[in-house]
Amino acid sequence: MTELVALEGASYAYEEGPTVLDGLDFAVREGKSLALLGRNGSGKTTLMRLLSGGLRPREGRLTVEGRPVSYDRKGLTRLRTTVQLVVQDPDDQLFAASVGQDVSFGPLNLGLADAEVRTRVEEALAALDITALAERPTHLLSYGQRKRAAIAGAVAMRPRVLILDEPTAGLDPDGQERLLATLDRLRAAGTTVVMATHDVDLALRWADDAALLTPGGVRTGPAPETLARTDLLAQAGLRLPWGVAAAELLRAQGLLNGSAVGPRTPEELAALVAAAPADG
Ligand SMILES: Nc1ncnc2c1ncn2[C@@H]1O[C@H](COP(=O)(O)OP(=O)(O)OP(=O)(O)O)[C@@H](O)[C@H]1O
Ligand SMILES: [Mg+2]
Repeated sequence: MTELVALEGASYAYEEGPTVLDGLDFAVREGKSLALLGRNGSGKTTLMRLLSGGLRPREGRLTVEGRPVSYDRKGLTRLRTTVQLVVQDPDDQLFAASVGQDVSFGPLNLGLADAEVRTRVEEALAALDITALAERPTHLLSYGQRKRAAIAGAVAMRPRVLILDEPTAGLDPDGQERLLATLDRLRAAGTTVVMATHDVDLALRWADDAALLTPGGVRTGPAPETLARTDLLAQAGLRLPWGVAAAELLRAQGLLNGSAVGPRTPEELAALVAAAPADG
């Protein structure tokens, strides 16, 4: 498995603050969706900004496919076409007058031909299901619409890794489902997706891998196992996902054998119970 983007021994401290990340090793593996979880203030946003080049590690280094990133213009342009970050608050990301203009900004900045820019913008708007909003002023959109517009701006760069900082926060349940469906389509098309979230159930259901930011460092592993580690979850200020709790109950009742994967959704729970051997 290729490590597409990685931080090696990375440390970071803000100008007037304590060290946030210290000697951190963290890798995004190509094709593996990754959920990043941790307490408020644990450094998720900082880590994502280091991965996307917005911040530069004080110590250690950032690599893309094993090669150290150079923080000059050329190096950062190469990084931006590989990794795109969507910040948590769309108002920190959107700035152009209309949605279409905003989404076209990145591709135009790459110096692409007009036709190529148009294609990318249309594609990104369609991917986020906001084609109808192309001409609308960004400041008149609803919060969920602004979130989609901000993600479209990143998608238009056709990054290999799309990093989203709490993308589902503030979305209604249907909006969350639509966003997850969009991310699934991007994944199917080959984009590696990383998201920060506080939602353990969402992480269990959505992610291949989970990374928990704890005071002892970051712990990354397959989501079902990592999100079943009560010790790590407690350190990260998180509770057990209900799917893991349900799996434990099913095992205790003999309805799920030891190594089988537990349910991640109500539908999977129903299927497991239906398939379990009847008593006696
Ligand atoms: N621009 C900044 N200047 C100084 N300190 C900062 C700055 N941004 C963040 N910090 C500090 O760095 C630490 C990590 O913050 P960060 O935003 O990375 O956490 P987070 O895990 O994303 O939290 P949340 O879940 O609240 O979004 C916090 O202690 C925070 O106060
Ligand atoms: Mg944050």
